[in-house]
Amino acid sequence: MHPLLERQINRCLGGADGLPVGWKDFFAAVGDAYAQGDADRRMVERSLDEMSHELTERNRDLRRELEARRVTETALLAEKAEQTALIRKLEEAHNQLLQSEKLASIGQLAAGVAHEINNPIGFVNSNLGTLAEYVDSLLTVLTAYETECSHCVSQEIHQRIDAVRAAVEIDYLRKDIGLLLVESREGLARVKRIVQDLKDFSRVDAGEWEWADLHRGLDSTLNVVNNEIKYKADLVKEYGRLPQVECLASQLNQVFMNLVVNAAHAIAERGTITIRTGTLDEDRVWIEIADTGSGIAPENLKRIFDPFFTTKPVGQGTGLGLSLSYGIVRKHGGHLEVKSEPGVGTAFKVILPVRAARDLASAQ
Ligand SMILES: Nc1ncnc2c1ncn2[C@@H]1O[C@H](COP(=O)(O)OP(=O)(O)OP(=O)(O)O)[C@@H](O)[C@H]1O
Ligand SMILES: [Mg+2]
Repeated sequence: MHPLLERQINRCLGGADGLPVGWKDFFAAVGDAYAQGDADRRMVERSLDEMSHELTERNRDLRRELEARRVTETALLAEKAEQTALIRKLEEAHNQLLQSEKLASIGQLAAGVAHEINNPIGFVNSNLGTLAEYVDSLLTVLTAYETECSHCVSQEIHQRIDAVRAAVEIDYLRKDIGLLLVESREGLARVKRIVQDLKDFSRVDAGEWEWADLHRGLDSTLNVVNNEIKYKADLVKEYGRLPQVECLASQLNQVFMNLVVNAAHAIAERGTITIRTGTLDEDRVWIEIADTGSGIAPENLKRIFDPFFTTKPVGQGTGLGLSLSYGIVRKHGGHLEVKSEPGVGTAFKVILPVRAARDLASAQ
């Protein structure tokens, strides 16, 4: 029994000795019941303590597990980002490879055709020269006949000869034949130049580093793409003085071609494409291709070097030109920079080391 209760009962009944018979046993039984109750309570308390402890432990474990999961998730996300970047790089490399293979085979084809055309051009050119001399001789003989024989034939023969002369329009023919020959030789000279440009442009030495005159490369490229630009733009050349540059000449020609064709495409009606060159210092040269075209929207500026980024309609642009050019310029240890203002125009600047950074090139 609770000691407080026991004390009160004892006091009311005048001490433990005054208790009626049987009450002592009753008190003892109540005391036992209380003791049992206390023991049960303590046991329940202990169990509750243990449960609470277990719950705290479990909670801590869960928290630890959650933290571990969060760390794993962050690591997985980082890994995923790395893999995406890697896949992108692989895609880029693959595309560049495809594109350069395509260009190399186009180059080979062009060089082959140029080579085949070269021979017939040679003999047609030489024959035209001889033909011009023969025509000259024939006309001299004709003039001699005309002056010497004008009185030595009968009137009737004269009339017949005059009829033939009138029929063939001899006076016109005399004037025109020389012009025809001159024009033909000019045409042939142009074909010769185109063939030479094609050969220069597509030299099948894509892997050969050489010291090259970049102005020559620019000029042959401009002749090759002349058709793309002549209806769109006036071409202004502001060439500075450039030293020879150690480079993969035909690959740089591809860069110039991509930039010039892009410039022409950016011009809607008619504009100007200006090509400037110069040196930054003793070791670096630059080539700038500027246009007065549409310009590039600021949100696109960061993406133009991405493979397959194009704003051109389906079928018109693959979006590989600039990514390929960027790769080629980097292979030379150079940079490709762009400045653009929408509605005003765009300028691409290729900066190249005079002596190629070949270590960089072979590392790529
Ligand atoms: N000079 C320029 N003026 C305006 N926009 C340009 C110019 N050069 C490039 N761009 C923009 O950059 C995009 C990507 O150019 P890129 O040369 O890589 O591909 P493309 O010209 O679209 O296709 P292609 O593979 O046939 O060259 C173009 O679609 C165009 O939006
Ligand atoms: Mg392009």
